[in-house]
Amino acid sequence: MHNDPYRRTYSPRQEALARAQAQAKERALAEQKRSASVTSPGAATQPASYGAATQPASYARPAADHAPAAANELLAPYYVKKEPYYRTVSDEVELYEAAYSVRMPMMLKGPTGCGKTRFVEYMAWKLGKPLITVACNEDMTASDLVGRFLLDANGTRWQDGPLAVAARHGAICYLDEVVEARQDTTVVIHPLTDNRRVLPLEKKGELIEAHPDFQIVISYNPGYQSLMKDLKQSTKQRFGALDFNYPEHEIEAEIVAHETGVSIDVAKNLVHIGERARNLKGHGLDEGLSTRMLIYAGSLIAKGVAPLAACRVALVRPITDDPDMRDALDSAVTTYF
Ligand SMILES: Nc1ncnc2c1ncn2[C@@H]1O[C@H](COP(=O)(O)OP(=O)(O)OP(=O)(O)O)[C@@H](O)[C@H]1O
Ligand SMILES: [Mg+2]
Repeated sequence: MHNDPYRRTYSPRQEALARAQAQAKERALAEQKRSASVTSPGAATQPASYGAATQPASYARPAADHAPAAANELLAPYYVKKEPYYRTVSDEVELYEAAYSVRMPMMLKGPTGCGKTRFVEYMAWKLGKPLITVACNEDMTASDLVGRFLLDANGTRWQDGPLAVAARHGAICYLDEVVEARQDTTVVIHPLTDNRRVLPLEKKGELIEAHPDFQIVISYNPGYQSLMKDLKQSTKQRFGALDFNYPEHEIEAEIVAHETGVSIDVAKNLVHIGERARNLKGHGLDEGLSTRMLIYAGSLIAKGVAPLAACRVALVRPITDDPDMRDALDSAVTTYF
């Protein structure tokens, strides 16, 4: 299954890993220099690796020789190199392009697994802009977004966070599941999402003027919010919004067939089951079956798993623990397979 091959999600854990790797490299380099300077006295010390910690661990690289060249190199891993498969559902591509042309901050609204992340990956590819994704969670602090001072062998140095990297160098910054972040964290995006387009780094005493290419995109799942977990109106009203939903029958079947390799007829049956389950939302099911789940089921079928078993594993069992509801869904499955 080639589901989500484009993820380049920023996470504090990755940052810590990358930082540890960069520091180990710096230590090794310093050690090398020290032993080299015994034979060639006066050898200059290498500058600290610039921004390595904001990159995914797999992209941690040796210390840069020239800071200016580092900016492009810094964003290099965030370009979407291969065209992501995205099946246009309505006029969302044109609308997003228009929004990007005026750098309007955008909010992608819709239930889980309906194509929001895939869409933003596709748009970043189409616009040829790097995409920095941040998976938001409630432990995330403003420093995780804007940056912090780090202590290393040479003293303290500033490390831009993913939002600062995107604003400074010109990337699309995608804050996934933004409501998961605490409201006091979310407000750091306010000055970037009105006509000021600036990001104050208070601890550093610097004001970043956003790069002309910079845009901020957030994803938002209406319906999951409680009163405690919702965006403030002052945040919501800084964004344009695109509504996403599960695509209509034919299109969803096309997506499932494309993503899994099953025949269009099998894909259509899976979509029928999905639609049946979606009708049960609010009548025993908290959430409908997502396109993602249909793709999971399709990829098991494509691997030779019997359709009934595949649907049980990928569709029915994950979505409910209620025995009656499981029976109802199982019988929907047997109607189509
Ligand atoms: N319009 C589409 N074109 C192509 N693939 C799609 C489309 N819609 C959904 N998909 C498929 O569905 C999968 C799930 O979509 P995606 O990960 O973008 O969901 P999401 O809306 O970001 O969900 P979540 O809110 O849980 O993050 C994708 O990996 C992709 O395979
Ligand atoms: Mg997503």
